[in-house]
Amino acid sequence: MTGEREKSIRIAVVPGSVRPGNYTGKAVGLVLDELSTYEDVACDVLDLAELQLPHPGQGGETPEVARFRETVDRATGVILATPEYHGSFSSVIKVAIENLGFPSVLAGKPVGLLGVAAGTIGAVKSLEQLRGVCSHVGALVLPGPVSVAGVQRIFDDEGRCTDEAVEERIRGVARTLVDYIRGHICPRVALEKFVRESGSNP
Ligand SMILES: Cc1cc2nc3c(=O)[nH]c(=O)nc-3n(C[C@H](O)[C@H](O)[C@H](O)COP(=O)(O)O)c2cc1C
Repeated sequence: MTGEREKSIRIAVVPGSVRPGNYTGKAVGLVLDELSTYEDVACDVLDLAELQLPHPGQGGETPEVARFRETVDRATGVILATPEYHGSFSSVIKVAIENLGFPSVLAGKPVGLLGVAAGTIGAVKSLEQLRGVCSHVGALVLPGPVSVAGVQRIFDDEGRCTDEAVEERIRGVARTLVDYIRGHICPRVALEKFVRESGSNP
């Protein structure tokens, strides 16, 4: 078994619904399952129902807020998953982003987006708006956000995905992020380490 210390990639996953039995969590379950197949990847799932992050100005810098921010800060990449609520992403996702600092620890970090909706047009509006906010704080939002329409029909009562094509697309959120990190971040980190250790950097 690969130990946590040997994993070179760390992904912070933020499911953006706190409704009991929510479908965002079921979709995130597939993303986590996909991530668990990569030997070099460790995951931190940030449960917003448990964390109950404060609105700006209400609650201050609690140890919980600090831990939340540190977890995202040390992540190599981030996955934000949101339900479509009233034509936008969820308020808990916005509060989560607001608790990531100003300037934000998301700055410069690759971010993959996933959205689920009950409606037939999917979570396109949520994802567009979430992309805008993430880009505003300096995150590198990866292309190909995944929107799932009619989500109640996609998962059965046991939470299993009943549509193979949709499952592949959801798993793709994990693959796209890990491929990006392996191709663009890991080589840079390795090069920096080599230069530092070889003493060629004055
Ligand atoms: C407050 C609220 C607003 C919603 N607005 C929309 C909407 O604008 N479009 C849509 O397709 N579904 C909408 N839905 C349905 C959600 O997309 C649906 O509950 C879906 O399962 C994703 O949310 P969940 O992860 O909380 O389950 C709304 C649900 C709630 C609770």
